[in-house]
Amino acid sequence: MWWTAATAPPDDLKGVDEKRDGGRRGVIAAAANATQFGRRWSGKILSAWFSRMRRHHLDDFVIRPATEADAASIAEIHTASWRDAYAHILAPDFLSGSIETDRLAVWSQRLRDGSPTQLVNVVLSPAGQAQAFVCGYCDFDPVWGSLVDNLHVRPDARGRGIGDRLFRAVAGELSAKASGSGLHLWVFEANVAGLRFYERLGGRVVESARSEIPAAGGKAVLRVHWPTIVQIG
Ligand SMILES: CC(C)(COP(=O)(O)OP(=O)(O)OC[C@H]1O[C@@H](n2cnc3c(N)ncnc32)[C@H](O)[C@@H]1OP(=O)(O)O)[C@@H](O)C(=O)NCCC(=O)NCCS
Repeated sequence: MWWTAATAPPDDLKGVDEKRDGGRRGVIAAAANATQFGRRWSGKILSAWFSRMRRHHLDDFVIRPATEADAASIAEIHTASWRDAYAHILAPDFLSGSIETDRLAVWSQRLRDGSPTQLVNVVLSPAGQAQAFVCGYCDFDPVWGSLVDNLHVRPDARGRGIGDRLFRAVAGELSAKASGSGLHLWVFEANVAGLRFYERLGGRVVESARSEIPAAGGKAVLRVHWPTIVQIG
């Protein structure tokens, strides 16, 4: 049988076949290796290019502090994000209930009477539509440092680098304001994509606890920690 680059044998066949075939297969295997090497590098180059394009695309997005006028947009993103990302985590009755009203009350109050340590930012698209928000607290815990309490990107805007940019921005702001340098947050263990996002940013899981949100039914939550914000990768 003639091997093409596409049907080249896996590594464990290579040595035996090369000896039996007087080198002909060796030449073909070398060509196949070169092709695999080329594919691996072209994959890396393409992924770097997509990542650069993704960041470039976000250059026209704005991150700014939220005001009371943003309460409704933030409540809408929060509700949509819970219904989408937490569908397998929070009770269906809770998610299909009147959480919009509850979130609107929470965000109106937080943006009206927030403590001086609270920081809420929104991301706006070039058309001025809110795409994401984050809420953090400086020096929240003497051991674990500042807290990122909420980070949500609209479900249809995820995976484009918005969360990454917003998280880095809030981490920088918290570190500039806080007296300590640590940062932490809680994430549901079942939120696998969310956890992967934080681990890629250099966070480490340091402990596990049970969620106190009644609709979570005691599901596990993980504390993710950055001892210093410089560690955000
Ligand atoms: C987690 C979240 C804030 C990340 O923001 P984002 O703009 O989607 O993230 P980026 O584009 O910067 O990075 C993409 C990464 O985010 C993570 N991610 C989490 N949920 C995702 C989703 N629904 N779609 C795409 N990526 C998601 C993944 O790790 C993804 O990378 P990978 O799939 O290559 O591993 C955002 O996806 C989100 O709002 N998720 C739902 C709410 C949530 O989990 N918040 C954090 C709770 S503590």
